Amino acid sequence: MGALMVRAFAPGRVNLIGEHTDYNDGLCLPFAIGLGVTVTIQDADDAVVEAHAADLGERDAFAAGEEPERVGGWRAFVRGVVAELARAGAPVRGGSVTIHGDLPRGAGLSSSAALEVALALALLAHSGRPEPDRRDVARLCSRVENEWVGAETGLLDQLASLFGLAGHALRMDMRSGEVVAVALDLRGWRLAVFDSGVEHAHAASGYNERRAECRRACAILGVESLRDVTAADRMLPAPLDRRVRHVLEENQRVDRATRALESGDLGELGRLLDASHASLRDDYEVSVPEVDALVDRLSASGAAGARIMGGGFGGSVLALFLPGCELPADAIEVSPGPAARLLEP
Ligand code: GLA
Repeated sequence: MGALMVRAFAPGRVNLIGEHTDYNDGLCLPFAIGLGVTVTIQDADDAVVEAHAADLGERDAFAAGEEPERVGGWRAFVRGVVAELARAGAPVRGGSVTIHGDLPRGAGLSSSAALEVALALALLAHSGRPEPDRRDVARLCSRVENEWVGAETGLLDQLASLFGLAGHALRMDMRSGEVVAVALDLRGWRLAVFDSGVEHAHAASGYNERRAECRRACAILGVESLRDVTAADRMLPAPLDRRVRHVLEENQRVDRATRALESGDLGELGRLLDASHASLRDDYEVSVPEVDALVDRLSASGAAGARIMGGGFGGSVLALFLPGCELPADAIEVSPGPAARLLEP
């Protein structure tokens, strides 16, 4: 027997640095934020999943016990989570599922992962199942994204949502699976995200193409992943040489940013954000003119560092401001908050 009513909240994330490294077995430094997605499930017909996207005013309904048909948009997430839980040996009970959130969609704050994670935790609890290992939940949610939504994203967003810790960033090593909390003591400095207004969808953007390029580079170099590549191995045709350079240098920037946080050198963090943006723009080529213009505007208005964040091709910019600096009017200030969790119904 499960509960009559459950609620789960999963946060979005900010990635301080370490972009397009997760699917290359590399390093990332994200944190969970306060904004996110809440999923409420109430008892109704056990055999049917009725889903309601409250913010969109749209609905879906499908049989809980069968592999649902494929559809697009937000419905793919609900159907995918239900189906992947069943495939993993945890079929869920139907019910009335209501989704609402305060994360801007498609803005690079990981609304997709927050939706998957909140759905998974709520569906498991509603069916009376114990919470599995959180790394397994992350992998299941990532399969939803890969196989139901068509975006070959890595594990960064799901892990950040599931392992977030107030006051801390998370240094993730995607090869070993290690997640280490790093105190994020801003001491008056401020972090903010800015929506470029260019909405992106990973499945439709150049994201999958970048993944294919990384696979091609690995095949040419005869390595399992770009984590095994050293600077001396970069004899690759363009643009693969630039893609690999970004990944190698971005991994190094994660280590430098971690040291900067540990020693309280936030000025250095700002310089690393700028360097990351230049690399994502020129070498990895995932920026767009509107985002570059936004980064330039923020730098001109006093940001100590700014960069495109997330999968790219639109979305958000992350910027760091000096203590005492007034934030631009369109800033959404962010700070590290706790992980995804069940809420009191
Ligand atoms: C998106 C994906 C992540 C990661 C980033 C880029 O957010 O969901 O897995 O690849 O892009 O760092």
